[in-house]
Amino acid sequence: MPNITTTAKALTDTQKKYCRIILTEDSLSWHRLVETTNGHLEYRMGAGKRGEHTARTFRTLIRSIVQAAKSHQLEAVALELTVTEYVKLETYGEAWFYRTLAENLSLASYEYKKYKTIEKKEKQLKEILVCGLGDKKHKVAFETGLTIAEGTNITRDIANATGDDMTPEDLAEAARLTFKGTKATVKVFNEKDIVKMGMGLLHAVGKGADDAPRFIVIEYWGAGKTNKKDKPIILIGKGITYDTGGLNVKPSGSMHEMHLDMSGGASVIGAISAIAELGLKKNVIGLIPAAENSVSAKSMRAGDIATSLSGKTVEILHTDAEGRLVLADALTYAQKHYQPALMVDIATLTGAALVALGQQASAIMTKDDELAQKLVKLGEESGDLVWPLPLWEEYKAPLKSHRADISNIATNFSRFGGCIEGGTFLSHFVEKNVPWVHIDIAPRMESIPSDKLAKGATGEPVRLLVELIKQS
Ligand code: BES
Ligand code: MN
Ligand code: ZN
Repeated sequence: MPNITTTAKALTDTQKKYCRIILTEDSLSWHRLVETTNGHLEYRMGAGKRGEHTARTFRTLIRSIVQAAKSHQLEAVALELTVTEYVKLETYGEAWFYRTLAENLSLASYEYKKYKTIEKKEKQLKEILVCGLGDKKHKVAFETGLTIAEGTNITRDIANATGDDMTPEDLAEAARLTFKGTKATVKVFNEKDIVKMGMGLLHAVGKGADDAPRFIVIEYWGAGKTNKKDKPIILIGKGITYDTGGLNVKPSGSMHEMHLDMSGGASVIGAISAIAELGLKKNVIGLIPAAENSVSAKSMRAGDIATSLSGKTVEILHTDAEGRLVLADALTYAQKHYQPALMVDIATLTGAALVALGQQASAIMTKDDELAQKLVKLGEESGDLVWPLPLWEEYKAPLKSHRADISNIATNFSRFGGCIEGGTFLSHFVEKNVPWVHIDIAPRMESIPSDKLAKGATGEPVRLLVELIKQS
């Protein structure tokens, strides 16, 4: 990662070692690398009309700058962007502008090299200097952006590791390491504890693997534990460290990316890490049911019936619908042990979410329309786009089991409305009057070329979660 620093100096006053990024109003594909008469290197790039940039195109523009610097093998670049020129962005405010600038410089700089042993011969980008940041408020906003991006990049690091390197215990260790020396605490329940507590669904999913399941609890009482009116927001992240599908094994071509199936859990760690780093005066709890959905003689079978922590029995008709099982027990745990102001579960839950929305946005499901609208707006502002799907009562009928209280997929094996089916299953484990939203992040599990990010985990929806907590 390059060092990202700021200075009050103007771009025209930077030293010769920096290549100055000059944004012109040419079209976005235009660029020239030139040496000026006084010996400065300038990278002039088309950025379109400043006055026409929206939040979406602005984020992409910032990421393109980093991509261009990398592809031209520039080792140090300097840039300066003036908030007042981007008139369409005024509604978001100046703090948003500098925060977003920092976030996207950092997110675009990130690369995952853990498994690369052959060093690149190309020159690497080592430094990004942002000029014209004399105003203290702008600088604070910029630093906030860097902190949020760091939380996002922590999430990407955890998610990108192989299933072999990120077992349930490794995920617990990643949480312990992330929160070492912060105000947040981490408690980890092992397999015995999970059985003793009665988390029969988490146990059913994890019992087939050699690496036993864990239940990870992160507590951050930024507003104080005794302050009764500050009920915590509870973030619940799916922590399937590898999803083979279980005995209903996934076909080849659909399995190899399933080390990313703990992306929801990783986003909980990243988001709370940013919140603790920012010192937000909010109470936030993170819950991560962690398990490997593996194949062995000990694996849960299709047709097995398991008893959830809530007491409800579940007919496991399909072993690949495992995410909803582990989340159900975590939702119950949240309501047993805390008084949630809001529960947010984050999960790479269904391939059907990609069928519905493509790879552009995560799906949200909640019975609170106002919350849905708020999340859509925060998604637009933060860059972690989300779009609502319904959770009508009518969707419950296909999950009625004749053998148990409920089944984990439609009893007629229909794939219609698969994303909503996941949310509907979870809704059975949410008590009336407990505010809750389900975020199916499967569409955003991996980056796509138009994101202008490194391949692999996107780290979503850390930016959205931080904003949601900030504004609640
Ligand atoms: N982890 C997968 C969902 C997934 C698929 C995420 C592709 C990202 C990309 C989940 O556990 C799963 O296997 N879901 C099944 C559900 C089905 C059996 C009802 C699916 O989507 O096929
Ligand atoms: Mn699965
Ligand atoms: Zn899964």
